Amino acid sequence: MLRQLDEIRLDALNELAQVDEVEEVEAWRVRYLGKKGNVTRILRSLASLPLDQRKLVGAQANALKEELQLSLVDRRKFLEETHLRLTADRRRLDITLPGRPVPVGRFHPITRSLEEICGVFKNMGFQVLEGPQVEWDYYNFEALNIPRDHPARDMFATLWIDSETSGKARLLRTHTSPMQIRIMEKGCLPIRAIVPGRAYRYEATDATHESMFYQVEGLAVDKDITLADLKGTLFEFCHCLFGKERKIRFRCDYFPFVEPGVEVAVECLSCGGEGCRLCGHSGWLEILGAGMVHPDVLQRCGIDPEEYTGFAFGMGVERIPMLRYGIDDIRLFYANDLRFLKQF
Ligand code: PHE
Repeated sequence: MLRQLDEIRLDALNELAQVDEVEEVEAWRVRYLGKKGNVTRILRSLASLPLDQRKLVGAQANALKEELQLSLVDRRKFLEETHLRLTADRRRLDITLPGRPVPVGRFHPITRSLEEICGVFKNMGFQVLEGPQVEWDYYNFEALNIPRDHPARDMFATLWIDSETSGKARLLRTHTSPMQIRIMEKGCLPIRAIVPGRAYRYEATDATHESMFYQVEGLAVDKDITLADLKGTLFEFCHCLFGKERKIRFRCDYFPFVEPGVEVAVECLSCGGEGCRLCGHSGWLEILGAGMVHPDVLQRCGIDPEEYTGFAFGMGVERIPMLRYGIDDIRLFYANDLRFLKQF
């Protein structure tokens, strides 16, 4: 038995000295010290030996086990260190070099404008809702008092998905106003909601037109809502975004789904109202259309116009950073040129 232990010892240490991969150390451990390993087997068989031999062999076997365990730790450490040194040499890792800069991302200027606009209305108690970009003719036009053949359809060059003449035609929404109908139809009153989202128009692109752009729609329906509430809300919004000093113009306009309809313009930031290319030499930049929700529209959504009134507004989002930063071409937002986007 003792001789056997000696043999195991020699074999084990010999083999271990030849192990030169960290991964192989484990196989060696299993072979000698594992549950079915050579040393373990001897320790297990002690019980069958006469008492005097049992003591002797037991002590020897335990000593061997301990020796092998220590050798294993040593070998593993040695291999790991060698491995590290070799890879360091091979890759010439200079740990004193400064790290490579990790480029930090940023939000798109339109995303930031959307958050800012929604933030102002959230503070006034409006909830933020979203709706489908592929819309039915009914929501985009019919329910908003724009039946087929109504001249106002010309205001919205439409990208149709189905033929316009089919009874239930789908289209890419030309504004976010269809969400007015979807919200009112639900019948939860009173309403204070804003809807940020994309809209589409079938137009040639130029410095101020894109076929895809963002709008934010607003809708408030309640008892006793008046034009003064609309004006107050929109003036407060303009002051938050453009500062208290900036002049704001509020005047009549026409949209089939509101009565009366208004338009809000802000003093041109680029020329301070003097007139320049950006504002078409008028000194003013229109940023939104609005008005009191037309009684027919309320009625169509199951709301009694004798009891409830409401206001709605819709603004172009790109206009706002264009005004702010003097950007003179809307197409820059969607060209994905990092040199442009990095500036914000
Ligand atoms: N939807 C209109 C547009 O895109 C704007 C608008 C919204 C006007 C709500 C009045 C009320 O031009």
